[in-house]
Amino acid sequence: MLKSLLLHMSESPRLQRFATNASFSRKTARRFVAGETTSEGIQAVKDLNARKFSATLDNLGESVNTTEKATEASDEYLRAVDAIHESKVDCNVSLKLTQFGLVLDEDFCRQNVERVVQRAKQYNNFVRIDMEGSNVTDATIRVFRNLFDQYGNVGIVFQAYLFRTQKDIEETLQQKARIRLCKGAYKEPPDISFKNKSDTDSNYVKLMKILLKSGIYHGIATHDPNMINATKQFVTQEKIGHDEFEFQMLYGIRRDLQEQLIRDGYRVRIYVPYGAEWYSYLMRRMAERPANLMFVARNFFRG
Ligand code: FDA
Repeated sequence: MLKSLLLHMSESPRLQRFATNASFSRKTARRFVAGETTSEGIQAVKDLNARKFSATLDNLGESVNTTEKATEASDEYLRAVDAIHESKVDCNVSLKLTQFGLVLDEDFCRQNVERVVQRAKQYNNFVRIDMEGSNVTDATIRVFRNLFDQYGNVGIVFQAYLFRTQKDIEETLQQKARIRLCKGAYKEPPDISFKNKSDTDSNYVKLMKILLKSGIYHGIATHDPNMINATKQFVTQEKIGHDEFEFQMLYGIRRDLQEQLIRDGYRVRIYVPYGAEWYSYLMRRMAERPANLMFVARNFFRG
């Protein structure tokens, strides 16, 4: 119920305007968002690299409704890819297609993302296409496949809560592409998605096994100790090396587990969001763990 309300709030432009101007919510965002500028994002990545984490930078923003804003997003990603190269950090980028104009025009979006993929390719770097709501799953896969076939340095994300995901994964593995597996963060209808956490979790474990048996380098993105333990057990049982996959986690979430995995000798990549458009991202993090609202409340009363 609360989760559903928070996901609903994540889509409200009015609340977004209010929250992004309020100082208490800006303070809260800093727990989960590295800052508002490219250089703040890069600084966070340097700090993570110093502690043995890889990173992926995400310039926050989604559902843009003008071509100008979509082009600006693409320009900012070019700056980020350049900055990653110049500062020699261990980092790639993750992006959302609706920030690149997917809902305006699919081909315009593809061209916008292509600029970033080409620039990353010059530097031998990689671009991950995040997965958004189910209204854009098919379009996201089409854009991904087109760019992957041409350039190769692109990966995609699939969500364990969707019924369709096993088929999408099996098709994508035929292309030998790199996949990030996550549970899924959007509000989806019951006819296409698992509603019980235990069903999503079982599907996650099943899909994790398919991915790790494929011999391709994938990302296992979760903070759930049960998913992490299932992965550790599976790689031990199947003799899959610690350098043949990576765990991925979000900036500021379960830092204890992040550190523990590094101590245990696993590869861990931290997803580092930055930028002014942090509202929807933050609300999805609240929905995943309403206990985070206590953290918001503390900042509110501190002013
Ligand atoms: P689950 O939600 O079951 O949480 C397990 C435990 O993790 C909780 O009990 C708590 O301890 C901790 N935890 C989880 N979320 C927390 C939070 N917000 N604050 C504090 N603790 C928290 N989704 C998507 O739809 N498309 C995408 O492209 C991506 N990309 C992505 C990249 C990376 C690197 C990660 C880690 C996640 C995503 N996600 C995503 C989000 C993902 O779908 C999912 O919503 C969250 O990871 C939460 O799911 P968990 O697997 O962590 O498990």
